Amino acid sequence: MVRHFLRDDDLTPAEQAEILDLADRAKADRFGARPLAGPRSVAVVFDKSSTRTRVSFEAGIAELGGNAIILDGATSQLGRGETIEDTSRVLSRYVDAIVWRTSGQQRIEAMASVARVPVVNALTDSFHPCQVLADLQTVRERFGRLAGVTLTYLGDGANNMAHSLLLGGVTAGMHVRIAAPTGFVPDPDVLRDAKARAEETGGSVTLIADPHAAVEGSDVLVADTWVSMGQEGDGMDRIGPFRRYQVNAELLAHAADGAIVLHCLPAHRGDEITDEVLDGPSSAVWDEAENRLHAQKALLTWLLGK
Ligand code: CP
Ligand code: NVA
Repeated sequence: MVRHFLRDDDLTPAEQAEILDLADRAKADRFGARPLAGPRSVAVVFDKSSTRTRVSFEAGIAELGGNAIILDGATSQLGRGETIEDTSRVLSRYVDAIVWRTSGQQRIEAMASVARVPVVNALTDSFHPCQVLADLQTVRERFGRLAGVTLTYLGDGANNMAHSLLLGGVTAGMHVRIAAPTGFVPDPDVLRDAKARAEETGGSVTLIADPHAAVEGSDVLVADTWVSMGQEGDGMDRIGPFRRYQVNAELLAHAADGAIVLHCLPAHRGDEITDEVLDGPSSAVWDEAENRLHAQKALLTWLLGK
């Protein structure tokens, strides 16, 4: 059966751990294995802007011996109204995997529904699971484990990063806290699924409105933009309610000793995170960005080996 990676809990805890182990191996031996030699091709399609995802997939696929075909959704026939399903049927005849950054989660579900090859979510409005694989790799590098580690995400609790950290974090047995203002809390269905997964793994999920209480004893603080792609001009005040959730030195001082800070980037310096923290000794963001490459190579290797 073809496996897809549309959201973080598409992987069982054991499968996620297997991919993270592969990611560590891919990092230790970057130009070693070439499982996509042939070359096997991967279509990587973008309906939204990207720097990290685009370059890390293209470089990673090349390092695996494969061929990346990068496509701009808007200038493909998708942009002129060809259906997602017809696109999926055709791409499935050419390539060994489809990686897609798009808006609605239902769009990537439609792509996967008829695909004969694995479909990978490279960010939707609802989830960013490739990012969270890299985040987990980074946390494990720093702490030597994931189970039992406490992670606090601060900001828009209803966005793709909050949802993916919830599902991906509890899959790894982490304690995931979301600190968000009223009106920006996670989707109830995602919360329910995260709680169910946490029951299996010993992780936990907590919503805490107060940012200081939320970071107390936390090992990992995570910031993300207050205005995600596609939300510009949605009529919501995306600055005022978020100000007290800024990851700054004063807030970081309330976290556990040795706490690290993650941000998927791009950062809006002075809004969700200060220069002092982003460029400071607790920041793990550059390792986190690098790990996109290794984690995605591991994911593709695993999915195409199925
Ligand atoms: N973090 C991330 O996905 O970055 P890009 O939008 O640059 O791909
Ligand atoms: N939440 C952000 C993540 C960017 C990588 C967005 O969707 O714009």
